[in-house]
Amino acid sequence: MDLFLRPWLIAICTSLCLSTATIVADMSASAINDRIKPIGNVHIEGTTPSVAAVATSLRTGQVIYDQYCASCHNSGLMGAPKKGDANDWGTRISQGDAVLAKHAIEGFNAMPAKGTCMDCSDEEIVAVINYMIKPN
Ligand code: HEC
Repeated sequence: MDLFLRPWLIAICTSLCLSTATIVADMSASAINDRIKPIGNVHIEGTTPSVAAVATSLRTGQVIYDQYCASCHNSGLMGAPKKGDANDWGTRISQGDAVLAKHAIEGFNAMPAKGTCMDCSDEEIVAVINYMIKPN
């Protein structure tokens, strides 16, 4: 090998090794915790949460519906009751709010638990149900 090239190759190899070492260093527990920490901040008692944080903590029924439920409940996929369709919802609504909410939260036949919105609170699911059953 050309003697002139050798130092350059060594330099390139060394810098590759060092950058790999940086990646390995990032696997430390605190770096991993940083990456996997939940989105959002803890509210410490005694401090005032900002209005923006409160506003985003509860999504509206429509926002969640569009993202998680519409794929089945717009078209009636697999027998899902269609949004705003009084015929589809009539007998279901007559079971009572509590049963409807329980089925949506825990899942019911082909209806997946929480309609796949796993980070939805029970309250949010109820808001979505109210949005879905309102006649179009
Ligand atoms: C993968 C398709 C699918 C998704 C996504 C889905 N559903 Fe459903 N859902 C169904 C099906 C199918 C049924 C009918 C189940 C049955 O009666 O056997 C159903 C039924 C329901 C019922 C009626 C339960 C009852 O007691 O009659 C509610 C309420 C409901 N879904 C809410 C939701 C909400 C809220 C979401 C979104 C957060 C959602 N669903 C997302 C498929 C889906």
